[in-house]
Amino acid sequence: MIEVIVFLRNRILSFCYKNLLKPLFFLVEPENIHGGMTLAGRFLGGNSLTRKLTSLLFSYSHPALEQKILGIKFKNPVGLSAGFDKDARLTNILPSVGFGFAEIGTITGEACKGNLRPRLWRLKNSRSLIVNYGLKNDGAERISKRLQGKDFAFPVITSIGKTNSLGTVEIDAGIKDYVKAYQYFTGIGDIFEINISCPNAYGGLPFSDPQKLDVLLKQITKIPTKKPIFIKMPPDLTDNQLDKILEVVKKHKIDGFTCSNLTKPRTNKISDRVVPKDGGLSGKLVEQLSNHQIQRIYQKTKGKYIIIGVGGIFSAEDAYRKIKLGASLVELITGMIFQGPQLISEINQGLVKLLKKDGYTNISQAVGMLRYEV
Ligand SMILES: Cc1cc2nc3c(=O)[nH]c(=O)nc-3n(C[C@H](O)[C@H](O)[C@H](O)COP(=O)(O)O)c2cc1C
Repeated sequence: MIEVIVFLRNRILSFCYKNLLKPLFFLVEPENIHGGMTLAGRFLGGNSLTRKLTSLLFSYSHPALEQKILGIKFKNPVGLSAGFDKDARLTNILPSVGFGFAEIGTITGEACKGNLRPRLWRLKNSRSLIVNYGLKNDGAERISKRLQGKDFAFPVITSIGKTNSLGTVEIDAGIKDYVKAYQYFTGIGDIFEINISCPNAYGGLPFSDPQKLDVLLKQITKIPTKKPIFIKMPPDLTDNQLDKILEVVKKHKIDGFTCSNLTKPRTNKISDRVVPKDGGLSGKLVEQLSNHQIQRIYQKTKGKYIIIGVGGIFSAEDAYRKIKLGASLVELITGMIFQGPQLISEINQGLVKLLKKDGYTNISQAVGMLRYEV
């Protein structure tokens, strides 16, 4: 009975989002909507009554979705990806929206205003966004102070990057900046994610070079922390480049990969007429690249690493594909913007159905069950 009620609730919410809210939202500059949603989320997260009401509208739970990964309990496998809650303002409300976990950041050593506006665009036909925020955030010191002593209601991943400025382009300065941000968060949150893949910052992606990554990871893993460490991967790597990164990572205490960040090249898959040249592409335009990377890492390393799959998830089927290719957890942003916030619970409920259909009793049994030649 409860399953039917949740299903109908989600259908109504989806109808309202697609026919009422989305047409209005899509008339406004995307960054203004992002800002407005953050303010609304902060308000709703502010007291237990609004959290409860939000939860009635959006939450869904099922034992088949629960997992313990690296000693951390996840009520469901669907998380909010890095870049939506840049300054960690939304951790009170996100569990009520149905998320099983969330990323905060990317947080950098110094506060950063990011690139000039406009820096966020919708590609409606391609079901993607162009993102050129350039790691805008309040900086590690301010954000960590804000979160000091806070008890989160779900697992929180702190995404750490290097400040987007000319001063961090040189490799040593870049590493110092990562280390600075990292040190503020050794005791906050549950997992670290080292972002080596922001396509919109000064100096490009120096740490996707295996030798430079090696030096960075040496410095990072020297710092004591109980938190597992993940690496957020760029999608635009050849198989050969990816394999070289895996060789380097093997030497360090790294627990997982998040696959993947925004893609940079403008390909003929883009079906929109006007495409700004700056920024990285999310959504459906990165989905295949992310899926390929998940599958290759899972198969090459025989499931040694925990993988978080992200990129172009718009449905339970999209999420399940990533899980069957090797992801234990999934994340999204663009799908939620195009489909509405009820998508989280739609995906979770849909996953339970897909698991049952395949004869699994828990999500962990489906991880990596799709095998192809890589
Ligand atoms: C508005 C926006 C801001 C983003 N900012 C970051 C960021 O700060 N750090 C990061 O690692 N990824 C960032 N990303 C990339 C996402 O975390 C994610 O990897 C990518 O968008 C693919 O997922 P999606 O298709 O579900 O959006 C951002 C994406 C969007 C849409």
